[in-house]
Amino acid sequence: MDATNNATSGKLTVGDKSWEFPIKKGTIGPDVMDISKLYGQSGMFTFDPGFTSTASCESEITYIDGDEGVLLYRGYPIEQIAEGGDFLETCYLLLYGELPTAAQKADFDFSVTRHTMVHDQMNRFFNGFRRDAHPMAIMVACVGALSAFYHDSTDISDPQQRLIASIRMIAKMPTLAAMAYKYHIGQPFVYPKNDLDYSSNFLNMCFAVPCEDYKVSPTLARALDKIFILHADHEQNASTSTVRLAGSSGANPFACIAAGIACLWGPAHGGANEAALKMLNEIGTPDRIPEFVNKAKDKNDPFRLMGFGHRVYKNYDPRAKIMQQTCHEVLAELGIKDDPLLDVAVELERVALSDEYFIEKKLYPNIDFYSGITLKAMGFPTAMFTVLFALARTVGWIGQWKEMIEDPGQRIGRPRQLYTGAARRDYVAMSKRK
Ligand code: SDX
Repeated sequence: MDATNNATSGKLTVGDKSWEFPIKKGTIGPDVMDISKLYGQSGMFTFDPGFTSTASCESEITYIDGDEGVLLYRGYPIEQIAEGGDFLETCYLLLYGELPTAAQKADFDFSVTRHTMVHDQMNRFFNGFRRDAHPMAIMVACVGALSAFYHDSTDISDPQQRLIASIRMIAKMPTLAAMAYKYHIGQPFVYPKNDLDYSSNFLNMCFAVPCEDYKVSPTLARALDKIFILHADHEQNASTSTVRLAGSSGANPFACIAAGIACLWGPAHGGANEAALKMLNEIGTPDRIPEFVNKAKDKNDPFRLMGFGHRVYKNYDPRAKIMQQTCHEVLAELGIKDDPLLDVAVELERVALSDEYFIEKKLYPNIDFYSGITLKAMGFPTAMFTVLFALARTVGWIGQWKEMIEDPGQRIGRPRQLYTGAARRDYVAMSKRK
């Protein structure tokens, strides 16, 4: 749909006044009208609270076509990257814009591997938390605290420090995530091992125990690596926009990523994978699906089908298809013949996709619908699901933050508002109040 028919500007008319604004065209996707001068020329703001029609920035990293269910990382289809690449190759691509050569990949892997340890004093942070603290609460705290340890990579004006902070974030997230998990279950921390690949290292840090050797399943490591690839970046979603806004003030990257983790935690966003599994557990058996579908359709009931719907995808989330395939691979590897939760999920998807309400509102399964079943089968508790999402999304947050900082036109983000509060009025002394 080319709404602008190649026009180079657009006119806004209010009453007898008109203003003209430039139209900017991207490589693919919707054109934009640059209204940055609207307030200066008209004294009016635009009003778009959920940013449904607002492009907040220019980016070269990720492209989504919501109508077609297309997701491209630096132009490469997610299906091809998930099939042919690995997560660290995806990190390189998202950060630098091109697929690495074998030598570049080896250098990048070496660099990330040798930054996986955290400062040993970080261990003391954990002792301050209750054992039943939600791991996302621990991650928000510990990632923000990294800026207390790495003063040599918080000067965002220094490209070298930006690079080392990016590598440190990608490298240390699995270590902190595994520590949060181990603390949650009362087991000792397991240190990273340099002879393991990224996802195998994470599985080892999560599931190895001192009393016996732990052998990482290559199939599960490959499946987890693919899950990380699917979650790596997703354009200007809520948590990425949070990281960009935090970074626009000049805050250090560790603090910005902590802000992104906090935003991702919400059940409308990354917290949906945890909420979706809880919902499947609550439904319990396929015969109860109609009851829950009716609740989701009831305007007076706040219940929603978690893992369904998306602000951008009005077609099947391409990541959900790959997640479903990966789910079957993991269950097969683990010898789980029939998982009752998967039975409920598959039947719920079938019922919802044939229901007029979901068809009309274009509600399809999103990435969070099948991820929980897969991660639970791998042995992760529900509380860890969004932590794994944050682990994978860190490269997307860092890549988008880096792109923003390196944009010469970058300014602090400062939206305005439509004020509907009280007009000016004089203060009333306490003695005179009724
Ligand atoms: C992620 O933005 C990203 O890219 C996010 C993400 C990423 O990779 O970063 O893709 C990851 O966050 C995926 C989404 C995970 N969230 C969920 O699964 C939670 C359940 N879904 C929703 O709450 C909802 O669909 C959102 C939050 C995802 C999108 O909300 P929107 O775009 O604001 O849409 P909406 O709430 O305005 O819904 C439009 C209509 C409404 O009905 P009407 O008021 O128009 O009559 O659809 C209905 C909603 O009630 N609706 C649902 C529904 N989702 C929307 N009805 C039932 N079940 C649902 N899941």
